[in-house]
Amino acid sequence: MDAEKTKIYMSDIHLEDYTQQYEGKQANVHSMIFDGGRKKELLNGEWQYAVDQYDTCLRQQWFKEKRYDENGYTLPVDYSFDEWPTMQLPACWNTVDKEYLLYDSSMVFTRKFSYKKGAEGHVILKIGAANYLCRVFVNGEYMGMHRGGSTPCFLDITGALQEENRIILVVDATRRAEQVPTENTDWFNYGGIYRDIELICLPDTYIKDFKIALLPDGTFEKIQVKIELSESVDTAALLTIEGLGIREEIPVAQGKGEAVIPAKPELWSPENPKLYEVKVSCLKDCVSDRTGFREIREENGEIILNGEPIFLRGISCHEESAQNGKALTDEERIENILLAKELGCNFMRIAHYPHHERMAKLADEYGILLWEEIPVYWAIRFDREATYEDAHNQLMELITRDFNRASVIIWSVGNENADTDERLKFMGRLADAAHKADRTRLVSAACLVDSEKNAIADRLIEHLDVIGINEYCGWYTPDFEKLPQLMANSSPKKPVIITEFGADALPGHHGTVTDKGTEECQAYVYERQIETLRGISYIKGMTPWILYDFRCPRRTSSLQKYYNRKGLCSPDKTYRKQAFWTLQKFYHELMEE
Ligand code: GCU
Repeated sequence: MDAEKTKIYMSDIHLEDYTQQYEGKQANVHSMIFDGGRKKELLNGEWQYAVDQYDTCLRQQWFKEKRYDENGYTLPVDYSFDEWPTMQLPACWNTVDKEYLLYDSSMVFTRKFSYKKGAEGHVILKIGAANYLCRVFVNGEYMGMHRGGSTPCFLDITGALQEENRIILVVDATRRAEQVPTENTDWFNYGGIYRDIELICLPDTYIKDFKIALLPDGTFEKIQVKIELSESVDTAALLTIEGLGIREEIPVAQGKGEAVIPAKPELWSPENPKLYEVKVSCLKDCVSDRTGFREIREENGEIILNGEPIFLRGISCHEESAQNGKALTDEERIENILLAKELGCNFMRIAHYPHHERMAKLADEYGILLWEEIPVYWAIRFDREATYEDAHNQLMELITRDFNRASVIIWSVGNENADTDERLKFMGRLADAAHKADRTRLVSAACLVDSEKNAIADRLIEHLDVIGINEYCGWYTPDFEKLPQLMANSSPKKPVIITEFGADALPGHHGTVTDKGTEECQAYVYERQIETLRGISYIKGMTPWILYDFRCPRRTSSLQKYYNRKGLCSPDKTYRKQAFWTLQKFYHELMEE
């Protein structure tokens, strides 16, 4: 409709592309700041909220709180921020109230907070994650937006702050074909602001990025450091690593500094998760981190950790708890790591999207290797450049966020995508971008088998260091003989990780090994899979699907009841199915070899 041609027009009910005005100021990888060791003010806690199915807040611009017309008459409004009900954030609204379990559209959150200007030069708002779009308003001003449901949003709100402030966050959990992931996945679409909301005060010139890692040159005696400041100034930074007796001045030219420093750190590994306190100070800023030094390489079909070939005894895991949805507590993350270790794992595939940054920090501490992944899942709009930008940004945000985590050894650029020309271009670009951004890790993806050839033949492999393969012989492909044939038909030159195999089993449901849905059937699939896979020399790891049952709207059978039942444990992890012990037995045998 051409509004210009009519005098009968009201933007808040006639403007169809009402979101256009909120597309600018996108928070992305370039707005991220390094926040390790910084003082933060938490804005977690009680927020007023309203379900806003029609995006009326954005259409009517509630955030302007326009109460009077130009003649001073009071205007009617369709909101009352202070009288709305409240929700404790961070949270997934789906688990807060049964009424919202299946709600996946927009919700408006608001609260007030006081701010006393100090010596800081910048105040940054950090939202750990909001699924999927988040628009930010402070004191009636649009501050920006973030796209992507699993990576952090950083926005500089300095200019909008007063002594008393109102912040409004509009979160839109709508699934869309052009998003990453699309509207069709095999997991539950939790909505909300489900990770911490923080204010971070920074000096005028601050340390925007700080990357540190062992130089992957096979000597294990050089540490590389990269520092980026918020301003293009010439100065020097001081790096200290107490545990290594390092106090090193690093020259900074036009805001960037890097150095390779001789050092012989105790190497980090799952068996010895040695961490060092590292600190960087520059001008009036100082940041810190706890990091481990290790080297991961791929060589002649082997995965090499600190110079030694390794077999990755893994398990896949979603970011979900029965009680909190995606808003896990640290206790629940630690429970997942300990459960994986009880299985005999040295590796976890945390699927299919970036989990909370605490997951990799805890994996550093508890000693377990990680595969981290962006949700380029199934039928992504590989033909659409804006979709590529979204996927690329989520990948770069993940790499920037977790670069200093020793436990993370593999970046995965996606899962189970059809091998088309458009997908090859899209995901080949992503894999090449990951290699360019991070030379200290391996790049992979969970690929499908070529069903016609029954072979590993995905064209994306040429862009990968490690080949992930999802195969469900004994389940979706009922004929077990297909697995040995698949293995014999394939001759990959790079290490293969079987990133998924498994079967559904309702906890406590028993029968014969051919009764689908029983624990016996699931355990038999594991037995048959293990007896074949353990003999294949090019397989260097596995992450069976999955540690515990998880919510899934696609699973409606009487055994599933909206849960994917391929877990080795019940959704609340209190019950271990027979297949848990089958896998544990195999991993313990490998550990004794
Ligand atoms: C796929 C997919 C998983 C899904 C699983 C299943 O391989 O990657 O996300 O849950 O199969 O069908 O259970």
